[in-house]
Amino acid sequence: MINGMQERETLRVKNLFKEKFSYTPTHLVKAPGRLELLGNHTDYNQGLVMSLAVDKYIFIASSPRSDGYVELVSSAFPEREKFSISELKKNPAAPWADYVKGVLAELRKAGVHFGGFDAAIHGTVPMGAGMSSSAALEVATALTMRQLYPYTVTEAGSTVPPKRDEKGELRSLRLDEKLNLARLCQRAENQYVGVQSGILDQVSSLFGKEFHALEIDCQQLSVDHVPMIGDIAIFICNSGVKHSLVGGEYNELRVMCESAAKKIGVKALRAVDSKMLADNKSKLTEREYQCAYHIVGEIQRVIFGARALREDDFAQFGQYMFQSHESSRDFFGNSTKELDLLVEIARQHPAILGARLTGGGFGGATINLIKRDGIEDFSKYMSAEYKRRSDHEMTPLFCQIVDGAS
Ligand code: GLA
Repeated sequence: MINGMQERETLRVKNLFKEKFSYTPTHLVKAPGRLELLGNHTDYNQGLVMSLAVDKYIFIASSPRSDGYVELVSSAFPEREKFSISELKKNPAAPWADYVKGVLAELRKAGVHFGGFDAAIHGTVPMGAGMSSSAALEVATALTMRQLYPYTVTEAGSTVPPKRDEKGELRSLRLDEKLNLARLCQRAENQYVGVQSGILDQVSSLFGKEFHALEIDCQQLSVDHVPMIGDIAIFICNSGVKHSLVGGEYNELRVMCESAAKKIGVKALRAVDSKMLADNKSKLTEREYQCAYHIVGEIQRVIFGARALREDDFAQFGQYMFQSHESSRDFFGNSTKELDLLVEIARQHPAILGARLTGGGFGGATINLIKRDGIEDFSKYMSAEYKRRSDHEMTPLFCQIVDGAS
């Protein structure tokens, strides 16, 4: 089923390209969206986080052009965006193109040489649901550029580009290259778009593995794959309340965490455990303490959660998900009444194992881990109950765990 769906969407992006540019694209890439499974806002605190790459993608069909211009079209936005590669300026009329321009700007800073191109963008990652459509677009852009103008980036900048084989294919990305690309895309988001997000989204989109959760150590920048196979299913319930990290709330939380770490005398909250936090409570404002309390607890829950997953103990893992949501709601303050309601409703269903908000918060979606035999009933029940209690329409979205971008 996945492949059938992907083929259809691939065809759509190719057709979009043909329709808008009147010729056939030479390259096609896809990058998945991600779900944060456990560990909320831990990434920029150099903590631990678990995530999944899922079968909702950003697809880009492209072809090089020789006049130094880039022309972008998207299935989601009517306006066409055209700019010169020497003028990577924001256009307030097409903010969606900022993610592409941000990656180009970072590639340029890394010393990568590139020319212009035409590209059609099409996505199945719901926007504003906290599934990182933006990171998927950044990663898809970076991979498109690698196809069009092969490059290799190291920590120090660009180096010898990869060669195409006899079939014209490039070798797959090495792990260190994936990490460098994830960092580059994160810089695009931090510096060009202006959201001070961590590395979770880009790493998840690049490192995803079918049937596996990612356990990411954001201090070591290492990724472990933990099998997530069993009679379980993952659903997303979108609250229908818009989530946009371009708003300032996300950056404000980051500032709180960083000032708490500074006052405690550590580089990042990763270095703090519960006792140290309690001992330093008097140095912090109430808000800083609450934020730090959430982060310290979340990092612990990831350690315990990964252990539970390795033992196939989904019931225990689900309990950590509920606890994580409560901590977001009660301490971190990034939940909403709709997200709380979705978790509360889900909790009452017999098939539920765990539910929590996923991603930045302030709207967006919940992630639900359920027993596989409850799929149909859970879906109907959630739609009906959420409609009854909030007046919002919502259809839970079934998600499969997939490989990372290619
Ligand atoms: C957003 C950010 C990530 C991460 C999550 C919260 O998705 O982009 O870097 O901080 O929120 O865990």
